[in-house]
Amino acid sequence: MKATTRAAVEQEFPGLITAAEGARRRAWAPHSKFHVGAALLFDDGRDERLVGGCNVESDVYGLTICAERNALFAAVAQGRGEPLAMAVVADTDAPVAPCGACRQVMHECDPERRLRVFLVAGSSDIVHETSPSELLPGAFALDRGEARRSPWR
Ligand code: THU
Repeated sequence: MKATTRAAVEQEFPGLITAAEGARRRAWAPHSKFHVGAALLFDDGRDERLVGGCNVESDVYGLTICAERNALFAAVAQGRGEPLAMAVVADTDAPVAPCGACRQVMHECDPERRLRVFLVAGSSDIVHETSPSELLPGAFALDRGEARRSPWR
């Protein structure tokens, strides 16, 4: 985990953090009141380089989905190429720590092991840079003797 700043991320991946903050405003979290936004940045030839996701809670608590998985699954459903970077932001003083389920999915969505992950604090300039492998060492993978599988086009 490496410390960086919003300005440095903005310079390298323009609009990424702003997109995560925009997605956070669409969070539906009537139970926890904890609003999270995530965004992915692509360089896959499409005009729209960013895809966002927010957490959406259910009255059946276990059906809740986190912002990270919502963003990743939305991008897969849009038939995107492999993302370069992801930002996650919550209403917190310190950068949010993604849950174990999201760490597993992030890992599976990073077959080329190049996804740059930025964990952003909501109310400070603190940004942590990490990667799916660092977030989940020893992640589960189905080994059926196939070539490495990818959800991206
Ligand atoms: N949540 C996320 O969306 N992402 C995270 O990284 C941490 C947790 C959501 C799930 C739930 O709606 C709320 O935050 C509190 O657990």
